Amino acid sequence: MANSKYEYVKSFEVEDEIMVPNLIVVRIGDRHFQRFSEVHEFEKPNDEKALKLMSLCATLVLQEYPDIVFSFGFSDEYSFVFKQTTKFYQRRASKVVSIIVSFFTSVYVTKWKEFFPEKELKYPPSFYARPIVCASLEVLQEYLAWRQQHCHITNQYNTCLWELVKSGKTEKEALEILKGTQKQERNELLFQHFGINYRTLPQMFRQGSCVLRTEVEDIVKYSENGTPIKRMRRDKTTVHSKNIAGRSFWNEHQSLLKELGGFTKDVGKINSDYIRSFLFESKLMASTWIVIRIDGCHFHRFSEVHDFEKPNDEQALNLMNSCAVAVLQEFADVVFSYGVSDEYSFVLKKDSQFCQRKASNIVSIMVSFFTSMYVMNWKAFFPQKELKYCPAFDGRAVCYPSTEILRDYLAWRQVDCHINNQYNTCFWMLVKSGKSKSEAQRTLKGTQAQEKKEMLAWFGIDDYNALPVMFRQGSSVFRDGMALNENGAAGEKPCYKVIVEHCNIIEQSFWEEHPGILG
Ligand code: GTP
Ligand code: MG
Repeated sequence: MANSKYEYVKSFEVEDEIMVPNLIVVRIGDRHFQRFSEVHEFEKPNDEKALKLMSLCATLVLQEYPDIVFSFGFSDEYSFVFKQTTKFYQRRASKVVSIIVSFFTSVYVTKWKEFFPEKELKYPPSFYARPIVCASLEVLQEYLAWRQQHCHITNQYNTCLWELVKSGKTEKEALEILKGTQKQERNELLFQHFGINYRTLPQMFRQGSCVLRTEVEDIVKYSENGTPIKRMRRDKTTVHSKNIAGRSFWNEHQSLLKELGGFTKDVGKINSDYIRSFLFESKLMASTWIVIRIDGCHFHRFSEVHDFEKPNDEQALNLMNSCAVAVLQEFADVVFSYGVSDEYSFVLKKDSQFCQRKASNIVSIMVSFFTSMYVMNWKAFFPQKELKYCPAFDGRAVCYPSTEILRDYLAWRQVDCHINNQYNTCFWMLVKSGKSKSEAQRTLKGTQAQEKKEMLAWFGIDDYNALPVMFRQGSSVFRDGMALNENGAAGEKPCYKVIVEHCNIIEQSFWEEHPGILG
């Protein structure tokens, strides 16, 4: 398809490939878990159903993405380990991380009712995620030991905390009692005051859960003499182990040995430099516009399976718009967004300090939130259609150093919308007229805008501009210039209304009419 003069903005996208032979781990965690668990009345310190829901999400992630061979999680977090030779999305960090967190969120929201039939999901959960790059198997081993140690320490601490609260102490008093205590003291506290032998608490709470691949033997049929004919089938299983970073656990699992290798020694004290590297996150350049672009994964298939109208499904687009509105309502730093087809670009203000400008944090939280909304709002837009499988979106962050370049970026997306819409409208007209898809493709190959216009006229669309404006110009979401209070009148406390419009954002006039957006 034709290139526009705005294509140069692509050069601002930076490479983020995690090079071979580094091992890739993606760690996911709930954004505001404390608030989420309180609003949804999770049991303290551990809610078994909530943990099982997390575990199911992890299992389905392994099922969906065969390159993930191992995962470990507890409380509100899960880490996913990819096989050494993975080429998943060609190892681009933001793609890898965003897709995993998006799919995980999608499953979490979809399966919520199965675990909490009596509880409404009160607001869209969102998870952050980050890549952990392990330079060798030994580093991965220390990472796993570190996470399991963390599981143990926080669980022991929280068990003490909530036992103290149950016994009548205020939360503040309980925290005071626990201040500076060591592992052994906390064990004694549990035993002497509450009669709890820590070691007898459920394994899932103390040791976390692992999901890994196994092979099971299936009997597929019997031969004539009655001998069973077996075939190996790949499966996933959840296990709890005291020491996931120990040789005895790791080396007994064939899938781990094959895809990652064996551990040669056990971990002693965890190397603090490694911990620093696990905590490191790169930040986006200061004083630049940040654009987070989200795009549906394999929406070609998703739209087929859900029978979207071609080339544009108004309800599908409205659903995307509703999610973008929610994003602007949730994240104060997002000043503008533009969406078309299965993608949305969110612009964060230049001086935004959201997540301290940590790239993977911002991308993952926004992708995850968007995905949650998409699944939660589905029924409102498609009351007659069942969501047949969990959708996922990918995301990336790009910085633009000036308002002019940012506007060129937005213009690039809108020109793309126009080019694609014109092409797709012609394509589906040709198909409807009896041509096969490949014939239609051949007919359109190399055609210019004018020829497509003539083609459309031939099909009875004399005026391309008469097509619905949302299809031609995409959707812009922003805060209405006027500060309104709850009654809709101008008030002292700003309460902006987020609106969706379909307008020309390439021309100067739009930005002149809305000077507050890019301020
Ligand atoms: P990746 O993004 O690379 O995972 O692939 P994708 O299949 O999502 O393709 P891409 O993002 O390039 O394009 C979006 C695709 O979504 C389009 O090609 C359409 O097939 C589909 N799509 C998006 N919006 C609509 C719609 O309103 N109606 C229909 N029928 N399809 C749509
Ligand atoms: Mg897509």
